[in-house]
Amino acid sequence: MTNEQQESLFQQKIDNELRIEPKDWMPEQYRKTLVRQISQHAHSEIVGMLPEGNWITRAPSLRRKAVLLAKVQDEAGHGLYLYSAAETLGISRDQMLDQLHDGTAKYSSIFNYPTLTWADMGAIGWLVDGAAIMNQVPLCRCSYGPYSRAMIRVCKEESFHQRQGYEIMLTLANGTAIQKKMAQDALNRFWWPAIMMFGPNDDASPNSIQSMKWKIKRFSNDDLRQKFIDVTVEQANILGLTIPDKDLKWNEERGHYDFGTINWDEFWNVVKGNGPCNKERLAARKNAWDNGAWVRDAATAHSEKLAAKKAAMTA
Ligand SMILES: [Fe+2]
Ligand SMILES: [Fe+2]
Repeated sequence: MTNEQQESLFQQKIDNELRIEPKDWMPEQYRKTLVRQISQHAHSEIVGMLPEGNWITRAPSLRRKAVLLAKVQDEAGHGLYLYSAAETLGISRDQMLDQLHDGTAKYSSIFNYPTLTWADMGAIGWLVDGAAIMNQVPLCRCSYGPYSRAMIRVCKEESFHQRQGYEIMLTLANGTAIQKKMAQDALNRFWWPAIMMFGPNDDASPNSIQSMKWKIKRFSNDDLRQKFIDVTVEQANILGLTIPDKDLKWNEERGHYDFGTINWDEFWNVVKGNGPCNKERLAARKNAWDNGAWVRDAATAHSEKLAAKKAAMTA
């Protein structure tokens, strides 16, 4: 078969909603796009453990502590499913982690913002996991089989993350004046970075069209962002909190909320490594990698011993 025939067969499969599996023929660019996207997604899960991990020891009650601990552990699991999915495309976990540690791979910029108060645990669950759900539910139908299957498991857990965050916000918003102020302050700080999580505007996102054709992506950045804003405004109203955007208003004609201009300079500045916590987050990940070397060595030695034993028994 010529390359062109293979490519047209590949596209036909995608058009017919069939999944592409690891051993199937795929264009090199499809493979590369997925490696970049899935590894970036995996890195976001494990770097995303850091801002919330910061509050586990200071959770205000045993119940809150158990919930937050479970949530942060879920994120570690998401990282593992996703690293495994990326490995089916011919990259190793060590290579991916090298790219994270040397800064060539990115992760979601939202995790480069600090978590200053307990209310930030509420804002993150509500807004950050809420935005992640908007992005990730369509990925359950991604054309690449291992990624789509990983996302189905991830999404089941994400809705619990969003709820636990919203419940924290609801409790604070109905609490004392100081608690309500904490919740408002967290919303003020996390609103715009959460809106930026959907990525650049469609006209500044050149790879999106190809990703949509390959059904890696199902909706554009701007469509997902609009959907998120429309549902979140209603949730903020129930909390009695104010979204920090003076241009936010219902547009009857469009059937959507209009919103203010996003500060893309801030977005690109954080992407380039100059956000408030970029250096701290990377240093924490590198430390964890270095300090975990003995665990990896021990696990390897153990599995080599088991293999040798098995070989001796069958010999
Ligand atoms: Fe997650
Ligand atoms: Fe989550």
